[in-house]
Amino acid sequence: MIAPSILSADFARLSEEMAAVGGPGRGADWLHVDVMDAHFVPNLTLGLPVVESLLRSTDTPLDCHLMIDAPDRWAPGYAEAGAHNVTVHAEAAEDPVALAKNLRAAGANAGLSVKPDTPLESYTDVLKHYDTLLVMSVEPGFGGQKFIERVLEKVRAARRMVDTGHLNLLVEIDGGINSDTIEQAAEAGVDCFVAGSAVYGAEDPVRAVEGLRARALDASAHGSA
Ligand code: DX5
Ligand code: ZN
Repeated sequence: MIAPSILSADFARLSEEMAAVGGPGRGADWLHVDVMDAHFVPNLTLGLPVVESLLRSTDTPLDCHLMIDAPDRWAPGYAEAGAHNVTVHAEAAEDPVALAKNLRAAGANAGLSVKPDTPLESYTDVLKHYDTLLVMSVEPGFGGQKFIERVLEKVRAARRMVDTGHLNLLVEIDGGINSDTIEQAAEAGVDCFVAGSAVYGAEDPVRAVEGLRARALDASAHGSA
């Protein structure tokens, strides 16, 4: 699956920009929405009122990535609003198991994200309560950064836990995904790829999404062969 990140879109024209990457069937499977609070990360983007408007202007499922402090307090609102997937940061959540239950009770899939230097081992039990694991392949905060290859070790570990039945979740990767990096991520076992600048920086965003998907499918076929 490919989830274009609207962080790299024109914020004055978000609904057109969401439409520009297509939807399920042709183009984006999910739309990735980066919520930043200038506390958990140094950058500031948008919050719940904007997400509520985005939900009214697209049929494509929204994948909300909350780079915020106190997600236990704020994340369930995004689930209640109708986001398909609500991802919180492991480093910020106080009680990630209770939070996952609240997100699911509000009708969303629960996602847990780990920054590049956060080990996965500490969260193996917690992840049993989650539907997605978002492995950050850049330091969260900004689009257009360079892919950090060493996080693929965490992707491989998560893939093994899913394949052996210890976890039941989608493995998602975020940061620096483009036509040069997507193949190694796919071979490592990623299910869902977030891409911001590689999609919105392209002349034809739908073609860029389709190109990324084709490369990922090709590489994952090799990875599992
Ligand atoms: C970074 C965000 C990403 C960002 C990715 O903190 O979480 O979703 O939009 O942008 P690219 O694909 O340009 O690295
Ligand atoms: Zn993101």
